[in-house]
Amino acid sequence: MQLSGGPVDIESVRSQAASCTRCRLSESRTQVVWAAGNLNAQVLFIGEAPGFHEDQQGLPFVGASGQLLDRLLAEVGLDRSSVAITNVVKCRPPGNRDPLPDEIESCRPYLEAQLEYMRPAVIVTLGNFATRFMIGEPIGITKARGRLFRYRGATVVPTFHPAAALRGGSDGGVPRIDAIRQDLAAVKSLVEQARPRPPAAPSAPTAAEQLGLFR
Ligand code: URA
Repeated sequence: MQLSGGPVDIESVRSQAASCTRCRLSESRTQVVWAAGNLNAQVLFIGEAPGFHEDQQGLPFVGASGQLLDRLLAEVGLDRSSVAITNVVKCRPPGNRDPLPDEIESCRPYLEAQLEYMRPAVIVTLGNFATRFMIGEPIGITKARGRLFRYRGATVVPTFHPAAALRGGSDGGVPRIDAIRQDLAAVKSLVEQARPRPPAAPSAPTAAEQLGLFR
């Protein structure tokens, strides 16, 4: 992963996450799954939580969902070197159950630090959990998809989780896989229009400081 100097000392936050015990998921995980790709990219993909393969390998989206995501990214001319990928929750929930609200809250400072470090132009939320996290409302992906949202200057593009596409089915007559394709094509255009990231204000407090991560 490439890193650059911004107001967030992302390596410190990452190393703190690696030994995190803020929630019960630390008891059953093999390892913390931090991120993949390029944290200097203009676009951040956010999934739900690591699964079995991610927990084993320490990387997000390396199982069947990740293989589909890589294929769909390639179709629009993107790959893991031109995007960053992470999850709302950095540790695998046992049996791949949904992350619980208190687990999401415990993990919140890590994703917020990643967002503040990256300041991406485009944020792609994969499925319900990431979409609700970024929009801050209990909205379902079916309602949110097709709309664009703003988060601190970034455009938030909600789309289906690749696992939902693997399960098949359609939405409003459009197969979910085609819906993701359409959304990724829109993401590619948004990324092409994005201006280079402005330099960070050195005096700004870091997300980690604001959230008391180091206390
Ligand atoms: N599903 C997710 O939401 N994230 C992963 O990393 C893998 C599968």
